[in-house]
Amino acid sequence: GAPLEVDLSPISDGQIINVFWRGKLIFVRKLTEKEITDMKAVPVSQLIDPAAADTRVKKGHDQWLVVYGNCTHLGCVPIGHSGNFEGWSCPCHGSQFDALGRVRRGPAPTNLPIPPYAFQSDTKIRIG
Ligand code: FES
Repeated sequence: GAPLEVDLSPISDGQIINVFWRGKLIFVRKLTEKEITDMKAVPVSQLIDPAAADTRVKKGHDQWLVVYGNCTHLGCVPIGHSGNFEGWSCPCHGSQFDALGRVRRGPAPTNLPIPPYAFQSDTKIRIG
């Protein structure tokens, strides 16, 4: 599939938008300052899946999270701004993800994966 350009300028603080790339749902989320601070305060030891915990966002773009939008348990679509970790909760079996898409409560075994993407400018990303 072709790369997908996403204009970030209409997305407001705290907002999550859905886009589709190669038939897959992707969440693009603009974190608030509070969410950024809160997520930095979480010890890696509290994470179920600590792999690459420090590479959830691109360097210099702390406010932008781009993740695949299907639960890593069995693929349901987690609900944004719900659960106990400022992130998502899955309606199927109760997994919870935080504002960086890191799994904080199972049964999901791993964080929401990050698709390949790059910043074209401060207000535009290219997925793929
Ligand atoms: Fe999300 Fe099972 S599919 S918890």
